[in-house]
Amino acid sequence: MTRTATASANTNIALIKYWGKADEALTIPTTSSLSLTLGGTRTTTTVSFEEGARGADTVTIDGVRPSPAQVARVSRFLDLVRHRAGLTAPATVHSSSTVPLAAGLASSAAGFAALALAASRAAGMELDARALTRLARRGSGSAARSVLGGLVLWNAGKDDETSYAEQVVLPTAQPDGPPDLAMAVMVLTQERKEISSTAAMRATMGSSPLYPAWVESSAVDLREALAALRSGDLPRLGEVVEANALGMHAAMMASRPAIMYWTPRTLEALRAIAALRHEGMPVWATIDAGANVKALTSGACGERVAAALRERLPGVSVWLRRPGGAARIEGVTR
Ligand code: PMV
Repeated sequence: MTRTATASANTNIALIKYWGKADEALTIPTTSSLSLTLGGTRTTTTVSFEEGARGADTVTIDGVRPSPAQVARVSRFLDLVRHRAGLTAPATVHSSSTVPLAAGLASSAAGFAALALAASRAAGMELDARALTRLARRGSGSAARSVLGGLVLWNAGKDDETSYAEQVVLPTAQPDGPPDLAMAVMVLTQERKEISSTAAMRATMGSSPLYPAWVESSAVDLREALAALRSGDLPRLGEVVEANALGMHAAMMASRPAIMYWTPRTLEALRAIAALRHEGMPVWATIDAGANVKALTSGACGERVAAALRERLPGVSVWLRRPGGAARIEGVTR
């Protein structure tokens, strides 16, 4: 008998970053992080466990067979699910994304969140949201946050049980309500990053004298960001978001040898964002483990900010994304 489940998940962009693992095997981060799940960025994944069959897992991503290293990563993740469900069957996994992998959107976050939901359901398990975030975390840390929609807090925790993500629920009673957020994703380069986030985190933790300071300031930044969200204060949020990301990159650059994801275009984008802010637009930058820049702004100003960025950065694609929903099941057959 074959059991099949299809699930989808949106990607997310961290407002307060995750950078460093206290436990690599379990993906327990050194700091808690806060993210925004983005609408219209779903990856859809179908998993079938072929009961009675033998052999290796088969994986395709957007119709193509990924590298042996990528297949091994998916298989290691499926082993966790098989172990819990008491299965030994190999799986067939088909994954497709609504955004190109090269768009600089954290594809592994959406990919492992969708895989966690599809694989657990195909294996006959009904995990609650918290358990699902813990499972997705084992595939890719940031995937824990893509299980949920809107604003998401990943509590660092101390062990597998306590390291989970939860939705941040904001009071709507205040005069302005929670800030209405949007993210303009600027695709500056389509090149794949040279150093994986896991390797770069390890190097930063092991050799950057600035890393302990970033960890310390990150706890303060997270409190500040949550306070800004609760009071509906977008400028206060934007300032701490940009500072937290630049601090993370400063810590990386101070590693020995240096880790430098930036290109000249990254700086151009940062300057364009600062110039728009100078003109009065509410816009702040954030950067992940790559050269591309994302701009946090308000939903109301999103179109204007995206148009102004396109004008200042000719040839750069700018994708405007609004908050998106949680991972969901698209279908189950058995
Ligand atoms: O989930 P990973 O291992 O790809 O790490 C993601 C790290 C950053 O994107 C740079 C920051 C974050 O919090 O998403």
